[in-house]
Amino acid sequence: MREKSNYMRDGSMEVYRQSGLCFRHDTRFIQTQGIPAMPATLTAAPESVSTLEGFQEAWEGNLNFRLTGECAPFEFDFPPLPELVDLLRRDEEVRILRGGDHGVLDPTDIRAEFRRMPLERALESRFHLSHFKLNRFYGPGRFLHGFEARVMEPWQEFLRRGGFTWNRCYPIFFLAGPGSGSSYHMDCSHVVAWQLYGTKIFSGLREPDRFSPLDLSVRNAYRKALYKPELKPAEVLAFDLKPGDALWNQILTPHWVDATDEPACSLNLSHGLLRREGKLCPNEAALDAYWHEHPDEAWREKR
Ligand SMILES: [Fe+2]
Repeated sequence: MREKSNYMRDGSMEVYRQSGLCFRHDTRFIQTQGIPAMPATLTAAPESVSTLEGFQEAWEGNLNFRLTGECAPFEFDFPPLPELVDLLRRDEEVRILRGGDHGVLDPTDIRAEFRRMPLERALESRFHLSHFKLNRFYGPGRFLHGFEARVMEPWQEFLRRGGFTWNRCYPIFFLAGPGSGSSYHMDCSHVVAWQLYGTKIFSGLREPDRFSPLDLSVRNAYRKALYKPELKPAEVLAFDLKPGDALWNQILTPHWVDATDEPACSLNLSHGLLRREGKLCPNEAALDAYWHEHPDEAWREKR
């Protein structure tokens, strides 16, 4: 433990504390001391990308990065968080699970009890809420009226200017109660995580291939059986996302996302078959090739 305490003070590993087989976030440190510096021995990658040219270089790598400047043309007036939770929890297409605790998911469906709770208590409870069918809320008078024109269009225009095309690009809400979060998992999509309320710690790996080689990651069975390995603090690439922040999460790379000590909400944009000048990134090219050989495992429209 002495060694762990030293890590926490020396400025690079202060945000993690070992517990059993995994390292647990300590939100007291996360909120005040920021993100660990990258060890000099690992491949350098930008922590943040602010120009289209920078994005064109970084998008096909393996490491997550912040989106800022012209890479984050995101603005919209969302309802206040309590109202948003209430609107979403009432909808029949919502998913509400007990949720993750530092990357370990409790998949219990708690929709019924979460809907019954007084809103203030629901917001402070442990939950992980997701909603994938947001076009239900696009109509006149609904809370996402104008969202396509004000959020999706500017983002897609940015991608088009960069020479990108895609087969799917759609938004998803992810909300979590204090200390709640996602499983340790990887997505078959490129994801922009746009933080709206509260703070989330978005943790990925500095060397994803070392823990999840690409030839395994393309397989459904591998992804379903994925569990969080024992990780040293220096092996984790974590970003604290505060309201207004945006992050690019690389396709097929393991990650987990936790709220800190207050409820948190992000809106993610999910992309599939994203090509630049007609070319997929290496991770998605491997996935696409695998899916051609195993069409039964290929993406099915979930919306
Ligand atoms: Fe994810």
